Amino acid sequence: MTTYDMQREILKLKKQNGIYILAHVYQSQDILEIADFTGDSFALSEAAAKAAAQTVLMCGVRFMAETVKILSPGKKVILSHREAGCPMAQQLKLEELSRLKELYPGYATVAYINTSAELKTICDVCVTSSSAVKIIGRMKGKDILFIPDPNLGAYIAKQLPQKNFKLIGGGCPVHSHITTRDVEQKRAAYPNALLLVHPECRPEVSEMADFVGSTTGIISYAQNSDKREFIIGTENSIVQHLQFGNPDKRFYPLSNSCNCCDMRLTTLPEVLSCVRLSGGEEITLPGETLKKARRCIDEMLRLGNE
Ligand code: 13P
Ligand code: SF4
Repeated sequence: MTTYDMQREILKLKKQNGIYILAHVYQSQDILEIADFTGDSFALSEAAAKAAAQTVLMCGVRFMAETVKILSPGKKVILSHREAGCPMAQQLKLEELSRLKELYPGYATVAYINTSAELKTICDVCVTSSSAVKIIGRMKGKDILFIPDPNLGAYIAKQLPQKNFKLIGGGCPVHSHITTRDVEQKRAAYPNALLLVHPECRPEVSEMADFVGSTTGIISYAQNSDKREFIIGTENSIVQHLQFGNPDKRFYPLSNSCNCCDMRLTTLPEVLSCVRLSGGEEITLPGETLKKARRCIDEMLRLGNE
């Protein structure tokens, strides 16, 4: 079957089976083309909350599919590949977070959305990279226990000096590998290019950037800029998407190894199996987890849209 034939079959079957397809922007171009909605984590959460279809297919990683299930417990939610997880979402166990909360009484616990549903049950609010500064800035309290990404946490803390942040160890293994040496090398190779990075990069890398933002933040910055060359410091699918959508501009990866293998697990044939209702994994969560984790996501949507 050709890519075109597969896409046509997916479009036919998703309509026939009433499936709404959400795809994170790290997915490949052939998947983005057959999705009903594409975006960063915050936009996907909002779209999930509004989706009318009874079955939602999330092409992305597990925490994203869990977020859809938490927001729409009555719907059938399918994760595109059962092994697609985000390593950062597994870094902290429930017991460890409970102990941390005891160490920092009076602190509001803020979770990056890249956490398991279980962890969200004992957090006050969650945030995404595009909504974090706005949401935490709108919170009443001063003291924030931010989990699990100290790089994103450091970036937010810099924007909000009026708040007191407690950060813990961890972070995205893909973005954390990028070093200041990568920046120096790429700046030397492409002296006219702007450097755009995701806040999951280490603070010393983000500090060297011309722009720091979420995946879709980086995309719209590059699209709207009158500059012609860009070094991209996030998952390398974004380099491809930008080059595809903006053939008159040039895009270079900040690091050749910034590839998220979990996001790459989903392929077009996999999506075809899902719309045939024979692939992926249906997400199920205990009722209590759904109820408690929802508070933290609802609070994100409330403060994000205030
Ligand atoms: P965004 O919220 O920017 O889509 O980021 C999600 C993610 O996993 C980045 O690595
Ligand atoms: Fe998780 Fe990093 Fe992959 Fe994003 S890029 S899904 S944070 S491992």
